[in-house]
Amino acid sequence: MLDQKISELQSEIERILPAIADNDALEKFRIEFLSRSGKLASLYEELKAVPGDQKPVYGQKINTFKKSVETQFESLKASLQSSSASQKIDIDITLPGRERPKGTRHPITQTLEHMKSIFVSMGFGIVYGPEIEDDYHNFEALNFAPNHPARDMQDTFFVKDDIVLRTHTTPVQVRVMKNRPLPLRVIMPGRVYRNEAVSARSNYFFHQVDGLYVDKHVTFADLKGTLVTFAKNFYGSDIQYRFRPSYFPFTEPSLEMDITCFLCKGKGCRICKHTGWLEVLGAGMVHPNVLRNCGHDPEKVSGYAFGMGVDRISLLRYGIDDIRIFFENDLRFLNQF
Ligand code: DAH
Repeated sequence: MLDQKISELQSEIERILPAIADNDALEKFRIEFLSRSGKLASLYEELKAVPGDQKPVYGQKINTFKKSVETQFESLKASLQSSSASQKIDIDITLPGRERPKGTRHPITQTLEHMKSIFVSMGFGIVYGPEIEDDYHNFEALNFAPNHPARDMQDTFFVKDDIVLRTHTTPVQVRVMKNRPLPLRVIMPGRVYRNEAVSARSNYFFHQVDGLYVDKHVTFADLKGTLVTFAKNFYGSDIQYRFRPSYFPFTEPSLEMDITCFLCKGKGCRICKHTGWLEVLGAGMVHPNVLRNCGHDPEKVSGYAFGMGVDRISLLRYGIDDIRIFFENDLRFLNQF
């Protein structure tokens, strides 16, 4: 009887043991066969039924059998441990990681960031306004009378009769003058929209940065100092500049600033159309009507304002001759920046 039990158990173990591949299965095996209430221990229970004179023989048999199972168990345990250790060593943690492809910031964002950092270092705050504007902020408060021909300077996308996609960032000036206490010294970057045919030189949306300083005794000399300081920081200290009189409804007097072409240093090239000069911004003293519209007394306070395009300057800066390439999201282009 006991002989048969032992040989059954032996063949069961021979079947199970070679299939064990991990520590969990090994532990299950230990509990089933080798623990105190396991199948091997129960053999000793069977020993009680064996006639007294045969007990030593069978006791010996069971002991030998148990020893051999324990030995197999231990050697399997050791080999599992060493194989998991060698698996760990297979991972070389000193190897450098695989590098993920890194994005770059869009060239227009880079130009914008550069502009912002210069103005911030000069004490300007940054304010953002809505891209969908009403006629009041985009035109009327900025001294564009209804039917004023200057409205035609900026071909407009209308959302409704009096709601537009802002044609410039200048309406944000109205919002800050109405909502914030003086003194005000802020720049207002953002995207603007105009109803223009798309070509290599123009697009129906682009980016601007407007600037505004309103306080007591703000002068034209302050404006000039700020613009020159910005231009020398942004375009290089070796550029020359000139101011030309100009017209904007919201400034009086108004000017435009040219700098010597930073590519040919003023000698004349394709980029500056062989004039040696590049027009870079519009500016002026805030018109008294605009101050009044925004709740300020032009007898008591004054201000200057300026506005510049970001896209065209990025074009010039990187020597790109088609503005559309900025918005095609072609990685072969974008990865170069
Ligand atoms: N808003 C003008 C444009 O889009 C640019 C501009 C000119 C802004 C003079 C100003 C300014 O703030 O003072 O053409």
